[in-house]
Amino acid sequence: LANGLGNTPPMGWNSWNHFHCIINETVIRETADALVSTGLSKLGYHYVNIDDCWAELNRDAEGNLVPRKSTFPSGMKALADYVHSKGLKLGIYSDAGYLTCSKTMPGSLGYEQKDADAFAAWGIDYLKYDNCNNGGSRPTVRYPVMTRALMNAGRPIFFSLCEWGDLHPALWGFRIGNSWRTTNDINDSWESMVSRADENEVYADYARPGGWNDPDMLEVGNGGMTKGEYIVHFSLWAISKAPLLIGCDVRNITGETMEILSNEEVIAINQDPLGVQAKKVRMEGNQEIWAGPLSGYRTAVLLLNRGEEDSEPITANWDDLGIPPDTLVEARDVWKHETMKQYLKNELTTTVGPHACKLFILTPVMPAQ
Ligand code: GLA
Repeated sequence: LANGLGNTPPMGWNSWNHFHCIINETVIRETADALVSTGLSKLGYHYVNIDDCWAELNRDAEGNLVPRKSTFPSGMKALADYVHSKGLKLGIYSDAGYLTCSKTMPGSLGYEQKDADAFAAWGIDYLKYDNCNNGGSRPTVRYPVMTRALMNAGRPIFFSLCEWGDLHPALWGFRIGNSWRTTNDINDSWESMVSRADENEVYADYARPGGWNDPDMLEVGNGGMTKGEYIVHFSLWAISKAPLLIGCDVRNITGETMEILSNEEVIAINQDPLGVQAKKVRMEGNQEIWAGPLSGYRTAVLLLNRGEEDSEPITANWDDLGIPPDTLVEARDVWKHETMKQYLKNELTTTVGPHACKLFILTPVMPAQ
């Protein structure tokens, strides 16, 4: 969407994966505080996004959405002011239907301009727009109404389409939104995580600066996967140019989760200005190679072992990666933070542990001038 936002995938946090409907303004404020105190905000995690369940079930007499009095008593303007005072941005959630998915609050269908104006007046910076309880009409009819309303509201608001991929939003999302969900909801398990990445990969060609494929939010730190599996999760999301929206309780984040989410080299792959989503370039049984170009003639390459045993040696050929034959390449392992001593020519071969990956940046070695 040409609203000047999303030139790189959005980064931040969202309440849903950890808190579901049990949210309140204290959680949001404390999360903003924690994003700053952990140093995550400095790494680019700027959006603090409230998901479903923030409003009263009924609009007021004038038809306005009303923040739930028991959980958001200070209102959204005060919360946005607080989040902005920390140098962060506030996101909110609504639905292109009569009720949101939780059915605890109204959707924006028929109230698009009123709600967009309210979001702008409160100082909202990001809208996630869900697709539940919509009476059966097409999302390609309902979503653009909110796009126009947000444009009219006079505040740049990142627009995240949450249509779940049923109508291939990658094919029509770019004119309407800054990102579009390509999948159903993720849960905190290996199977769910890798299948979201697979479904999302199909649409790689449609991602570009201003509009991104969204395989759903991160589960890193929620406890359902091993450290190695969470590294795969974060690596796949990074190279897929997916939104990096943290989904754990940042107030109680562990050192291990911090180590994953704060890997600056992996974040830089996600935020690379070229904005090209990686694809699967080779699949052999449980072993896969995913790769995509980065700025500066570099290539990101992920060697993935989906199996339960150590892999056989996996070889990524320059041919598969789109690197010209005989190019000398410097390889950096961005999880080990180690550059290989020897330059490589025509292939990179390595083994990978069970449910694990290795992620490299390959830089061509330019001949001396
Ligand atoms: C849908 C969305 C989720 C979340 C919930 C909230 O399931 O896909 O990401 O927003 O609704 O109810």
